[in-house]
Amino acid sequence: MIGFLAGVVSSFCVGGVIVLLWWMRQRDFDKYARRAMEAVEQGQYHVRMFGQHGRRAQAVSESFNHMLQVVESTISQLSQERDVLQHILHSMATGLVYVNHEGKVQMVNEAAERIFKRPREQWVDRAHWVSLRHYSLCVAIDRALLSGTPWRGEMPVSEESLLDVNLIPIPQTARTGIAQDSRYEALLLFNDVSEWRRLERMRSDFIANVSHELRTPIAAIRGFAETLLDDEDADPEIRRSFLQTIFEESKRMGNLVVDLLELSKLEREGQTVQLKDTSLGDIVDKAVRRLAKEAEERNISIEVAPDMETTVWADADKLLQVFLNLIGNAIHYTPQGGRVRIWRDTLVERVRVHVSDNGIGIPEEHQTRVFERFYRVNHDRSRASGGTGLGLAIVKHIVAVHGGEVGVTSRPGQGSDFWFTLAYLMNKEVAGPRLPQ
Ligand SMILES: Nc1ncnc2c1ncn2[C@@H]1O[C@H](COP(=O)(O)OP(=O)(O)O)[C@@H](O)[C@H]1O
Ligand SMILES: [Mg+2]
Repeated sequence: MIGFLAGVVSSFCVGGVIVLLWWMRQRDFDKYARRAMEAVEQGQYHVRMFGQHGRRAQAVSESFNHMLQVVESTISQLSQERDVLQHILHSMATGLVYVNHEGKVQMVNEAAERIFKRPREQWVDRAHWVSLRHYSLCVAIDRALLSGTPWRGEMPVSEESLLDVNLIPIPQTARTGIAQDSRYEALLLFNDVSEWRRLERMRSDFIANVSHELRTPIAAIRGFAETLLDDEDADPEIRRSFLQTIFEESKRMGNLVVDLLELSKLEREGQTVQLKDTSLGDIVDKAVRRLAKEAEERNISIEVAPDMETTVWADADKLLQVFLNLIGNAIHYTPQGGRVRIWRDTLVERVRVHVSDNGIGIPEEHQTRVFERFYRVNHDRSRASGGTGLGLAIVKHIVAVHGGEVGVTSRPGQGSDFWFTLAYLMNKEVAGPRLPQ
């Protein structure tokens, strides 16, 4: 009997010890698992569990580790995509502002900061109207948040800056995933269209100017031709003078077309001019030879400084055009018996070429504008010289393509000094052997 009892007691003891050990192991595993969960809660997705607490614990650990592996790789993929998106958003030229359903700005990119001259801190979590301050746009945003109505319009930000605004309402469901969420958020895209508008205006002004320039010679040609046709017995002297006018007006039209084509060619092919080592002296000689007859007719002397021989980095044909226009102007806007001088001074890595005259000069208020297309100080005088008003615009364009600058200093009644700069190549003989390329 005693033996039986002792057996029962010892079995209970063994059983109790086993249960105790099992319970302790379980408790350790619970503690261990809780710590792992807490780490995950804090964003440490790299933690892993090791199943030293029995077979069941091992199975649980394996599933837990597998789940964490999946979460970790999904999160790293998402954060990579988010980084790429952030880069795209911040390097975009379009300004972007995201407004939540409460009307508070949630996101703003660098372009928007730049356009509105406002740092991000002064946007985020503030009501949209604090930063945007444009009545129609702010009303449109509030309407978009309430009813999802899109809007497109223009908004001036300063005197010279105009924005094209595109307001896109985004249903909250897109973000929350809650089907019955009827609220909206708003995405705003801002594009600076001032430059585009300016070009558009310039183009239409240009077309108006060209039409105007063509109308005058066409009207003259038509008028004189009609008179000649109507009056076949006109005095030969009068006939001759009418024909002479028709000839001159048609020449003027021809000049205008040539200059217009030159300008449009420069605009199209501006970046592809052939810049290479060119002798400045040769080009000046060529231009002077071409204009010698005209200068002689007006009894104007052309003096070329002795040190013009140097090598510049230029397109020879285009540079010749520059000299023809500047020397041509100097001859036309200088009274009989005047003098034109071509000389240069040397700056660091650049040469500044001058075409100076002692002619009629240009009043100060016109000096900055003479390089504009069709701008003339005296319309009649320009017409009398067969000018088109485009010569200096062409000069400015050609010099700009060469990376240089143009300018003028002038005194009415005393003369003008037109100058431009070019890159020049030191210690290079143009005629000598070329360096291997
Ligand atoms: N050397 C100069 N002296 C005085 N005025 C000049 C001179 N060169 C240019 N101008 C002024 O600048 C204007 C624009 O010149 P340009 O573009 O060559 O046109 P155009 O000679 O055909 O009128 C001229 O109409 C003239 O009023
Ligand atoms: Mg001219």
